[in-house]
Amino acid sequence: MAKLTLNQLVNEMKIYKNFISFEGIDFSGKTTQIQMLLNRLSYHQIKPVLVREPGGTTISEKIRHILLSTDYSEMNERTELFLYEAARAQLVHQKIIPLLEKGEYVIADRFYDSTTAYQGYGRGLDLKVVEVINLFATAGLQPYLTFFIDIAPDQAEERQQSNRHEKDRLEKGGLDFFTHIRRGFLEISKREPERFLVIQGDRPALEISEEIWITIKSHWKIKDTQ
Ligand SMILES: Nc1ncnc2c1ncn2[C@@H]1O[C@H](COP(=O)(O)OP(=O)(O)O)[C@@H](O)[C@H]1O
Ligand SMILES: [Mg+2]
Repeated sequence: MAKLTLNQLVNEMKIYKNFISFEGIDFSGKTTQIQMLLNRLSYHQIKPVLVREPGGTTISEKIRHILLSTDYSEMNERTELFLYEAARAQLVHQKIIPLLEKGEYVIADRFYDSTTAYQGYGRGLDLKVVEVINLFATAGLQPYLTFFIDIAPDQAEERQQSNRHEKDRLEKGGLDFFTHIRRGFLEISKREPERFLVIQGDRPALEISEEIWITIKSHWKIKDTQ
């Protein structure tokens, strides 16, 4: 049997300027930063659609429930990979691509880089396999820019404890797990430094949001209004 190449799986990478994502370990401040960015954009009459992973469609939200529930501690890491990819495939094809084709802006709270970091570097699944399945699920859709908000795992743990937040199945992974994941994100940034931007997350939220805003303004050609 002939070998299947990546090119046969995906005809071409699809990049839309209006599509960006946020990445980082849990409690790094992704949701906080996305909300601050949405506020800034709304002053400029830009109202992106926000999607979260896993989730964002009826099917994907059901899969999210299975993935995050602490009832399923027996879950095999390969099952976990396929469930994330199944949720993503549905979100990409049902929602994200149709919105981008209409010219809407879309912001993703996590996208396939999380699978590379969590299931690849975190769980230790073969990185090449993860890359191929990521490509297959997304049909080559790639964020135009990704903001990786970087904080140390012990700092994330402190934030979690001060919030008294109940941990989901993935969050229960422990410090070692999150150290591998963080390394994974940093590796991605080395491979794709222009798309995957490392943002120092151990600073006041306003300062971080200012840095993100400067980048967004220049890429989306947003003019400051007085
Ligand atoms: N820059 C920051 N400095 C200190 N605490 C922060 C900062 N950004 C967010 N937080 C707090 O950390 C917690 C996790 O933030 P959140 O935005 O929900 O992270 P994520 O979406 O990455 O899990 C929240 O309690 C939030 O208020
Ligand atoms: Mg969040």
